[in-house]
Amino acid sequence: MLEALQEIQEDGLNRLKTIADADSLEQWRVEFLGSNGRLKDVMPMMRDVPKEQKPEIGKLLNQVKQALESAFEEARQSVTGSSTDTSQPVDVTEPGTSFQTGCRHVITRTIEEIIPIFGRMGFDLAHGPEVEDEWHNFIALNIPADHPARSGSENFYLAGEGADRLLRSQTSTVQIRVMEQSEPPLKVISVGRVYRPDTHDATHYSMFHQVEGLAIDRNVTMVDLKTTLFQFARAYFGPEAQVRMRPSFFPFTEPSAEVDMYMPIKGTMQWVELGGCGMVDPNVLEAVGYDPEEWTGYAFGLGIERIAMRKFGIADIRWLYENQSGFLGQFA
Ligand code: DAH
Repeated sequence: MLEALQEIQEDGLNRLKTIADADSLEQWRVEFLGSNGRLKDVMPMMRDVPKEQKPEIGKLLNQVKQALESAFEEARQSVTGSSTDTSQPVDVTEPGTSFQTGCRHVITRTIEEIIPIFGRMGFDLAHGPEVEDEWHNFIALNIPADHPARSGSENFYLAGEGADRLLRSQTSTVQIRVMEQSEPPLKVISVGRVYRPDTHDATHYSMFHQVEGLAIDRNVTMVDLKTTLFQFARAYFGPEAQVRMRPSFFPFTEPSAEVDMYMPIKGTMQWVELGGCGMVDPNVLEAVGYDPEEWTGYAFGLGIERIAMRKFGIADIRWLYENQSGFLGQFA
């Protein structure tokens, strides 16, 4: 009986190795483990085994049975899990499971296109925090305490962060941080998020992005400012782009202007307002310890969403932040 069992095990395991489809696997099961199978066949031989050997042979019988069963289970899993399972034919015309590849957000893409343009004009990249204090967001920027821009309804003041903490409402804060930390002359841009409690609609959102520029040197003029904006417009919007400045007011520049750029929109050239600019106000230079008699400068701030929405024909700012991959995937 011992030999019979060993032979069944060896034979069974060897044959199982060659099996690759569900039908043959079932035949194997019937032949070896079935109720009239080879293992059952040898059972009656137990009667002729001498009494003292019975426990040992019984144990072996169990071991062989378990070995065959677990080998069968393993084979069953690999057969049903593989494409050679002919009982479940594969429909090769069925659409496959496609990979979902991510893509850069259109605002990230726009930022990454803007930075090198200014980089080629000699602007370094500066960073500042999104949680700011009133000194950097207002006071040093010559925005007086009673100015409406400082009111609670225009800003996200942060409870529990100290009386004067707020989410910055403009990237002009970084102008102050850069000038406090370095000596003139300097040329920097800074790109980042700003926050205002606006009601969301097609053109307003409570968070958006700005690119801020600052250049400080001796004898800087409005011509330098306009040339810089013009070079940017040409590089970003193409050879027909133009820049227009309209007189305006900002507390931190004097004189100040609104910046419009003339750009191709759906095949025709159009003027679009992108932000503000001006010559850095002497009060701002004094606030950071620069001598306004010696140093002059220009600054500008442009809305990134405005640039991206015009460039890509996006009609509603809210679409940018609804995280719909179908929409965002178009601008990869
Ligand atoms: N900080 C202004 C805003 O958010 C934009 C701006 C205007 C920035 C004039 C400037 C500037 O640097 O010179 O509306």
